[in-house]
Amino acid sequence: MKKILLGLLGLTALTAMAAPLTEAEIDAAVADLIGKMTVEEKVGQLNQLSGRGLDPGMVALVAEGKVGSLLNEVDPATVNALQRQAVENSRLGIPLIIARDVIHGFKTIFPIPLGQAASWNEDVVRQGARIAADEASSVGVRWTFSPMVDIARDARWGRIAEGFGEDPVLASRLGVAMVEGYQGDDLSKPNTMAACVKHFAGYGAAESGKDYNTTWIPEVLLRDVYLPPFKAAADAGAATFMCSFNDINGVPSSGNRYLLHDILRDEWGWNGLIVSDWGSIEQMRNHGFSRDLREAALQGAKATVDVDMENYAYTQHLADLVASGEVSMDELDAMVANVLRLKYKLGLFDNPYVDETAVAFYAPASLDAARRAVEESAILLKNNGVLPIDFNAVKTVAVVGPMADAQHDQAGTWVFDLEKEHSVTPLMTLNEKWGKKVKYAKGLAHSRDRKHDGFEEALKAAQGADVVLYFAGEEAVLSGEAHSRADINLPGAQKELLRELKMAGKPVVMIVQAGRPLTIADDAELCDAVVYLFHGGTMAGPGIVNVLSGEVNPSGKLPVSFPKMVGQLPLYYNHKNTGRPAEGITYIDDIELEAGQTSTGCTSFFLDAGDGPAFPFGYGLSYTTFEYGTPRLSSAEIAPDGSVTVVCDVTNSGSVAGSEVAQLYVRDLVGSLARPVKELKDFQKISLQPGETKTVVFNLPASSLGFTNLKNEYVVEPGDFQLWVAGDSASGTPVAFAIK
Ligand code: NOJ
Repeated sequence: MKKILLGLLGLTALTAMAAPLTEAEIDAAVADLIGKMTVEEKVGQLNQLSGRGLDPGMVALVAEGKVGSLLNEVDPATVNALQRQAVENSRLGIPLIIARDVIHGFKTIFPIPLGQAASWNEDVVRQGARIAADEASSVGVRWTFSPMVDIARDARWGRIAEGFGEDPVLASRLGVAMVEGYQGDDLSKPNTMAACVKHFAGYGAAESGKDYNTTWIPEVLLRDVYLPPFKAAADAGAATFMCSFNDINGVPSSGNRYLLHDILRDEWGWNGLIVSDWGSIEQMRNHGFSRDLREAALQGAKATVDVDMENYAYTQHLADLVASGEVSMDELDAMVANVLRLKYKLGLFDNPYVDETAVAFYAPASLDAARRAVEESAILLKNNGVLPIDFNAVKTVAVVGPMADAQHDQAGTWVFDLEKEHSVTPLMTLNEKWGKKVKYAKGLAHSRDRKHDGFEEALKAAQGADVVLYFAGEEAVLSGEAHSRADINLPGAQKELLRELKMAGKPVVMIVQAGRPLTIADDAELCDAVVYLFHGGTMAGPGIVNVLSGEVNPSGKLPVSFPKMVGQLPLYYNHKNTGRPAEGITYIDDIELEAGQTSTGCTSFFLDAGDGPAFPFGYGLSYTTFEYGTPRLSSAEIAPDGSVTVVCDVTNSGSVAGSEVAQLYVRDLVGSLARPVKELKDFQKISLQPGETKTVVFNLPASSLGFTNLKNEYVVEPGDFQLWVAGDSASGTPVAFAIK
């Protein structure tokens, strides 16, 4: 609009500098446009289809104004050709929005979101999103279906890879950083993408970790654990939300007016665009919630789902529902307004086309940032001193395993635009740096390979080496959407290969690249060191080799609890204490024959897995050691509307520089509802030179210590609390304070 005004004044040259439209200007322009639209054109704006290139049927739909947005169209010339149909040939000239699942990078692939979460570093996440936006917007993609902020407590769920883990505070902070990275400070800049916060809501609570499964989530849990990251992203100005596939307590999200309208729009005051998930409106028939597609369309519209992604529910039935009065014209206009508002915000009316000559991927600075993200995401789970490896001193390094040179698989899930030849693998990096010392024997063709044919060669390589680097893990396709696993051990014959390698009697370092926590506790016991890397993307090789060589000191911390056995799932650190917390664990082999029913002491644990994780939430070692002082509070009592300052000294007590994530946890000892044994409230990542002490300072408002009661009210209850500042969720000595 500003362009038009300036154009009338003969000032088009200034348009590049034009300030973004104000909300009021956008609202006026949207109202004006809606006033000119037919019902068919309105429904067209709500229709999102998957691209089919310049297929004549698609071109006609666009020219007739029957499509509002397209996903999966990434060729800039095609994008421009379609956009020309919309802008120059459709009656009202409304531009399309081009959307894509750009989840952890477009061409330069960053670690999967769960890996980025292991960095506990908002800058890493923000920068990754910024680079993704730069690359994807250069082909015309201005809307990404990311971030996914679904809390996941079950590693069987394949989509655990796509989120930030099990904790609401960590997921909130990183989700906000990702939104900021995509959207920047002005969405109308052509190198931004609108974020889409998904999947609203509770998708990660899928029963048994099976994708798309039913969820049962009491509202107090929904509000205290599953919704906070969504609320944080909404408050941060995320432009769009996507509803989820699952039903929550019987109501599919896409027809859940309470969730989408009453909570998201009314209670939170968020006024963006809600898109369905792919087919999630029409699938309400499968849920047994909608009699037919017409009813599904009605339920979607009433729930205030604005955009129909590949359901054909709105295109087939919305006009009729409006004609019959079941959906009012005001309701339809509100949906259309949300779409048009986004198009104005993105500046698409002024700049609908993409510069086909400006496409630029893999900038050296982007590759550097991707490598740093890998370095910050790598988690050292175990080290008996074999790491870091002095590659100058060792004579021969055996490199073994299916993930040592997996250009495709190290990229992880959700990389539709991968050009795998750009992936730099650990083997490539090791060969480049110390080629003469590297003896490579793959051992297994891929992660699921069960054949032992390569074992002999691998053992021989191990026998002739000073140290064995065993690159284990999962292929990319074993996690992500619709890729849940009921067995989360290392797949194929990887466990056996590790045992074979052990026979060489050489130090073994296992490097796991995976899309989820795997049950590797028994494998880890056999190894001298273990580094865990959630699929690291383009620069996994250089990043991980820098960690192995000590050029970079690992600082990643687990964003999820690692189970010892799959049967422990769901597993999360912020669980309740139960009436009989674990005590005096008796393992299955220690039970006497014909022992009495009460012989194990009747507390809460498994006879085979005991209690607790293999590795706790927040855990991760370093090549140095950190010591924590006792946390000091500005006051041992806080008013319910007050806050307390918590300070804690952290000392690097080792001999190399390193970074540490200082984590602040609390426990509300007694509540009107039973409270979790620990809850993360804040964290800071700090760097320390050897011998250096830094004082971390946290501001802890009492308002962050409340919870949702059974009336669905957020309450801060007076009472006694404990507080820890520590390097993981299982360490530290608590100090007491109270809300009074
Ligand atoms: C289905 C997935 O659940 C969602 O996350 C994704 O954005 C859409 N498909 C579009 O590809």
